[in-house]
Amino acid sequence: IMTSVKTLLGGSVAVGSTVEVKGWVRTRRDSKAGISFVAVHDGSCFDPIQAVVPNTLNNYETDVMRATTGASVVIRGELVASQGQGQSVEIQASEVELVGEVIDAETYPIAKKRHSFEYLRGVAHLRPRTNSIGAVTRVRTVLQNSIHNFFVNDGFQWINTPIITASDCEGAGELFRVSTLDMANLPRTDKGDVNFSEDFFGKESFLTVSGQLNAEAYALAMSKVYTFGPTFRAENSHTTRHLAEFWMVEPEIAFADLNDDANLAEGMLRYAVKEVLNKCEDDLGFFNKMVDKTLIERLTNVSETPFARIPYTDAIDILLKSGKKFEFPVQWGIDLQSEHERWLCEEYVKGPVVITDYPKDIKAFYMRLNDDGKTVAAMDVLAPGIGEIIGGAQREERLDVLDARMAESGLSGQLEWYRDLRKYGTVPHAGFGLGFDRFLNYVTGMENIRDVIPFPRVPNQADF
Ligand code: 4AD
Ligand code: MG
Repeated sequence: IMTSVKTLLGGSVAVGSTVEVKGWVRTRRDSKAGISFVAVHDGSCFDPIQAVVPNTLNNYETDVMRATTGASVVIRGELVASQGQGQSVEIQASEVELVGEVIDAETYPIAKKRHSFEYLRGVAHLRPRTNSIGAVTRVRTVLQNSIHNFFVNDGFQWINTPIITASDCEGAGELFRVSTLDMANLPRTDKGDVNFSEDFFGKESFLTVSGQLNAEAYALAMSKVYTFGPTFRAENSHTTRHLAEFWMVEPEIAFADLNDDANLAEGMLRYAVKEVLNKCEDDLGFFNKMVDKTLIERLTNVSETPFARIPYTDAIDILLKSGKKFEFPVQWGIDLQSEHERWLCEEYVKGPVVITDYPKDIKAFYMRLNDDGKTVAAMDVLAPGIGEIIGGAQREERLDVLDARMAESGLSGQLEWYRDLRKYGTVPHAGFGLGFDRFLNYVTGMENIRDVIPFPRVPNQADF
């Protein structure tokens, strides 16, 4: 039976079966008694399977002795009950094939010892072979799947919004511009450098910062939609929470207000966390042991407890009365800084919190103006240890109010198609954007967002 390590360790293959496993050597230990213990991993689960290899195999000296950490192997033999502690089964090997040896084992970058995450970023092509990045990769898969399941089970349509766009949804000017290049006929400057000023087929366009505006169009026809794709921000941020290219989940619902939006966000987050708790026991166990001893307890609480909801104006009062000295002074009207956000969820609520109804001047043009004329129906979901993981809002569905907001934001005369949505059968609607990689950061307890995405894109980093 050729199968994954996960299936072999999972207990469904009978002891005594002839099995075959293909993977990479994590460790090899040679005993004096002429037996080698080879631990093989294939990415399917946290633990490797151990193969017991006797020196009576005729390629023991030529091949098995060269199967060092990182080498690829195929091992065949009998599945037997394990003698030692750890796994319940192991393979009594009758055949070992060395598929690809590690040339110069001394310089293999992922040697057996523990490496810092910073070091591993420098060998991003090999780091998925480590315990930690392997675990992150599996949790990433389960978390993405659980989000898709949550929406599809609830009748949402998954729409794919464009990557190339002419609009700056957030109005923050953090855009990467897209150019077309005629490779045979590259435009050159006087100095002979390539001139990258050609636009996308003659129209100025950018990599999208958000699929929201397109999602709104589909929500106003399909009622419940979401998009889940890569988004881009040309911000020069060097933090543990920012990427230049990240993945965003953006649902959009019609006939809905801010309260419906917050309910949807909370429902999605709690469902996804519960799924990961149920399906990633070993990987979470590892993170709980190695990176954050309170992780599982914290996630269990999140899955079971309703989120606190605090209007921005109250949050400002709470911060002012906290007695805590913040670096950035607290005052109504400020954009909450990460120190404020973190104090609110880590010290005050001690869990995720939804902040609602922010001042209109610090938020995007599309957010619905509240009756007070000063605030908009916006919400951010803040998570302990991370800060903002979701930003969302009820959208301005009234054409006259939208026009006034667009004029204030210098957008008059633009986005005619977006205005059309308010002219032809407008309805109250709302949505949000979840920074998927930040959410994965939260769920794994990992410290740096660069370690939860396979190949991080940050300023000056596009190798690999
Ligand atoms: O708050 P943001 O900018 O909201 C929007 O883009 C809305 N159009 C979403 C919507 O309503 N459909 O971004 C949403 C989330 C943030 O809360 C954050 O989690 C994440 O995207 N995010 C980033 N994640 C990683 N790196 C960055 N540079 C990020 N910028 C935003
Ligand atoms: Mg935001």
